[in-house]
Amino acid sequence: MKTFRLNVIPGDGIGVDVIREGRRVLDRIAEVSGGISFQYHELPWSCEYYLKHGKMMPADGMAILRDCDAILLGAVGFPGVPDHISLRQLLLPIRVEFDQYVNMRPVKMLPGLNSPLKNETMDFVCIRENSEGEYCGKGEWKNHGQADEMVMQHSIFTRKGTERILRYAFEYAKKNGKNHLLSATKSNALNYSMVFWDQIYDEVRQDYPDMTSAKMHVDALAGYFIMHPDRLQVVVASNLFGDILTDLGSAMLGSIGISPSGNINPARKYPSMFEPIHGSAPDIAGKGIANPMGTFWAISMMLEHLDCKEEADQIMTAMQHVLREGKAVTQDIGGKASTTEMTDAILAVL
Ligand code: NAD
Ligand code: IPM
Ligand code: MN
Repeated sequence: MKTFRLNVIPGDGIGVDVIREGRRVLDRIAEVSGGISFQYHELPWSCEYYLKHGKMMPADGMAILRDCDAILLGAVGFPGVPDHISLRQLLLPIRVEFDQYVNMRPVKMLPGLNSPLKNETMDFVCIRENSEGEYCGKGEWKNHGQADEMVMQHSIFTRKGTERILRYAFEYAKKNGKNHLLSATKSNALNYSMVFWDQIYDEVRQDYPDMTSAKMHVDALAGYFIMHPDRLQVVVASNLFGDILTDLGSAMLGSIGISPSGNINPARKYPSMFEPIHGSAPDIAGKGIANPMGTFWAISMMLEHLDCKEEADQIMTAMQHVLREGKAVTQDIGGKASTTEMTDAILAVL
């Protein structure tokens, strides 16, 4: 029996609902597999925690988090605590501290989804830089309240950070039998960051002569997502561009509630973290209607990362079965089922 130790941060809003449902799925996987089990260490770090303690996590939070096989997170951020505080004290520092510089975000149409693009072939991955770039958090705010008030928001693109994500994307493509890669740029306007990104892309691509690759300005690429999703295989993007493109990708499937996100530390020196791509959805929090599929998909990615491919596939197969048969359809994708009913339907298949 192999026991996986999971640090679980439900977080805020619907994060709490979807993680509760995710644990039900994991429990069932443990039951039916016979060979694996999960030990959960649930951490209450959230905006509620902040309002009580004045911080999003305790001072030794990172040390507590580090000690596990993987981290499962719901969503962070809720009205009452400014987003730049909650996110910059919890989610974003975890990605940096544990060198989770790859953010893997698959965009794959599941049969049964009722998106306007449901008849398109759509099966690609976005590989998002996850540790620097536009998210470096540095800047300046000058002359508060005066006529010449100004702010500067910096981006940091290092050679190491840029090269490793581009190389990871090419390697990923090679290992997964994909022969086409697109690099998101905006070097027509961003005359430092994206000119540098393009230059390193040009260097790295020399090592992959069998791969066709191209760069595309991110605005044009957003249009290309909608017009030609069938031509996409691997998309590599900076932190901010990847963030925006992947909400678009999930919306193309029919809802922001569907897609997963794997924050990966490729060296496996630190734990990787898995979460749905969506946020805490304050507008539907507490209503019991959130779609838990993004979390189930993230759990599937986590199991694959933990070398439990069979169990990872079981979850994806169950989700597809439920969708195809219309067994439970949440409101965001055109039905009436509650969060719990969607999970019940999936457990019935598992
Ligand atoms: P959001 O993803 O929370 O919500 C956007 C819209 O999508 C809302 O209308 C919401 O109801 C809907 N939605 C999202 N997930 C859904 C689901 N599973 N099922 C059904 N509908 C769903 O984005 P937002 O409104 O920009 O952000 C809300 C808060 O969450 C903010 O504090 C934001 O910073 C935070 N956030 C956190 C994460 C994270 O922790 N990874 C990600 C995104 C946003
Ligand atoms: C995501 C989220 C975060 C991001 C926010 C909440 C900081 O949108 O995980 O996609 O931009 O990375
Ligand atoms: Mn996002």
